[in-house]
Amino acid sequence: MKDIVNIGLAGFGTVGGATYEVLKRNARDLTRRTGVAMRVTRVVCRNQQKARARLNGDDVQLSSDWHDLVDDPSLDVVVEVMGGIEPAKSLVMAAIKAGKHVVTANKAMLATYGNEIFSAADAKGVTVAFEASVAGGIPIIKALREGLSANRIEWIAGIINGTSNFILSTMRDTGASFDACLAKAQELGYAEADPTFDIEGQDAAHKITILSALAFGTPVNYGAAMIEGISKLEAVDIRYAEELGYRIKLLGITKRTSEGVELRVHPALVPMRRLMASVEGVMNAVVVKGDAVGTVMLHGRGAGGEPTASAVIADLCDVSRMLANGNSPVPIFGEHDQEVGWLPIEKTVSSYYLRIGVKDEPGVLADVSRVFADNAISVESMMQKEAPVGASGTEIVIMTHSTTEGAIRRAVRTIEALESVTSRVVLLRKEELN
Ligand code: HSE
Repeated sequence: MKDIVNIGLAGFGTVGGATYEVLKRNARDLTRRTGVAMRVTRVVCRNQQKARARLNGDDVQLSSDWHDLVDDPSLDVVVEVMGGIEPAKSLVMAAIKAGKHVVTANKAMLATYGNEIFSAADAKGVTVAFEASVAGGIPIIKALREGLSANRIEWIAGIINGTSNFILSTMRDTGASFDACLAKAQELGYAEADPTFDIEGQDAAHKITILSALAFGTPVNYGAAMIEGISKLEAVDIRYAEELGYRIKLLGITKRTSEGVELRVHPALVPMRRLMASVEGVMNAVVVKGDAVGTVMLHGRGAGGEPTASAVIADLCDVSRMLANGNSPVPIFGEHDQEVGWLPIEKTVSSYYLRIGVKDEPGVLADVSRVFADNAISVESMMQKEAPVGASGTEIVIMTHSTTEGAIRRAVRTIEALESVTSRVVLLRKEELN
């Protein structure tokens, strides 16, 4: 049993620095809640000068080599907030081997190497806690592991990338193009100089992969995720979706089906009446559907120093309580159900929005309708838009009833080959979230 928990921090940037500050600021409350004093005694980071200024004379050992954390026998916990796969993964594996508990915010590492990391931690009897890896300050991991643990989880859908959500909100508010709104996000510091991971959906896919494994008791399987980002979205589709009563959001979705687990990230039309449609700007939100509780939504800041520090410190509190009282931690994943497979994307069921550029001449609607009929796809609504000024053809916008991804892809291929069709089909999925 301990009354002081010694913490080593790997990374002292936005999240590491904020973690240090909040631990100091709220030290008295944290001790009251956990029964121990949490003390950062060692920091490893790249920019020593900046770190020294931030530490402001505090008694903390500072260096640039992560091995220093592993080799320090006085440390109970290593907090990894460096990001990126390496050297983060080597540090985490070495810390586990050295018998240290680990708190990490690293979604890319866990979504890719989580099985190896958790099985090493299991074998060594240490905790790897990762609340900060998904949706920043929103306590979704704890919600799934603790507050919702009575439920059979049916599905989870989340707006879990603030950068993309900011871009989509700005496109809607201003009618501006994707490129212009990305530039705005970069100017405001919401998007990185290289925004690929955020806008192409990988960041959201890392997060939904972790939530999926937690919810359904499976190993993490990032490779099973279908990933489509927002970089090809056009302002016109956001406008047409609005006319139809929907907002376009980048969703991470995972669902339990009788044929396997669905795992996907893509822009989706969300009915305006859903709370999720009102999640704007850089905010995140996650909806969980449990068999007993129904739907639960958590909303909050998905990034930023102190919101992410809030999640890191929640994990530190768990580890500290465990060290203070000798309680074992809440298990990370349930018993892995090896029977559960992943659903091939062709079998996923959705309803769809299609925008099709066509010649404005007799018989075109009939041609397109025939393709839907031939693929057993039922059309919910169809509208013909006025031809844009100067354009020779026109556009039709179609909403379908539920069908499979396989059927819609076949239909799109056939439609694009029609002589009367003048452009690639824009295809978006609709999620009712009910
Ligand atoms: N870049 C992420 C986002 C935050 O835009 O939400 C960290 O995962």
